[in-house]
Amino acid sequence: MSATGSLRPVLPADILARKGDTPIVVLTAYTTPIARIVDRHCDIMLVGDSVGMVLHGLPSTLGVTMEMMILHGRAVMRGAQKSMVVIDMPFGSYEESPEQAFRNAARIMAETGAPAVKLEGGQHMAETIAFLTKRGVPVMAHIGLTPQSVNTLGGYKVVGRDGEAEKVMDDALAVQEAGAFSVVLEKVPEGLSGRITQRLSIPTIGIGAGARCDGQVLVVDDMLGLFTDFRPKFVKRFGELGQAADEAIAAYADEVRHRRFPAPEHAFADVLAPKGTKS
Ligand code: KIV
Repeated sequence: MSATGSLRPVLPADILARKGDTPIVVLTAYTTPIARIVDRHCDIMLVGDSVGMVLHGLPSTLGVTMEMMILHGRAVMRGAQKSMVVIDMPFGSYEESPEQAFRNAARIMAETGAPAVKLEGGQHMAETIAFLTKRGVPVMAHIGLTPQSVNTLGGYKVVGRDGEAEKVMDDALAVQEAGAFSVVLEKVPEGLSGRITQRLSIPTIGIGAGARCDGQVLVVDDMLGLFTDFRPKFVKRFGELGQAADEAIAAYADEVRHRRFPAPEHAFADVLAPKGTKS
């Protein structure tokens, strides 16, 4: 049973209907085993282009390709039973024209089976979002800090302080008007994200945007303590799996070096034991 209480996977319309209801729970996922766990607890699994930094060691999300998103999208879909999978459109796959965006969004949906895509940008992407949504592509928008624009934004900074607040509000209204079924607010000051959440009729999903959004998203490897290259203030670590992995791998290396692993129970006998006894 899905988190919305139905026996089928969550769909964009279910997320839209959750506005003002219980908080929408979102995590990223990039692989089948993690997707199987996330699927049990979350409403949406986001195959974020953060996969480039988190799993592929890229310095930013700019080098992520359509092929990477489709490969990881298919892996996550194999682990999805009840939550909705949303796949990020990578940098360069949608900004040129609405037609380019449709071609690539349709390819992502056809080749992965995911029911929705996410793309970054506010007012300047509204025409593209409208083009997609009118043609059967549900879109989750993403405004505030948009990491694909890190080079024009001048870093991974809070977006929406002082004179910028009105622009972020206008971005939110523009993507809603264009037909987005929800919008990610990244690194937006808490008061502003609260005002946007109140004003919009579509759900807001916050990351570093405070507690007043309709839902929350984190990068799964961040909250598990697996991705430790940097630690933004908005990430709470709910586990220390990186440390646990380090300790486990150190113990393995030590046992191999001291010939304590493998032990007899991990080896195979040369002769099969008679039936009824253990081999
Ligand atoms: O790529 C990503 O993981 C994202 C989320 C952090 C919102 O866009």
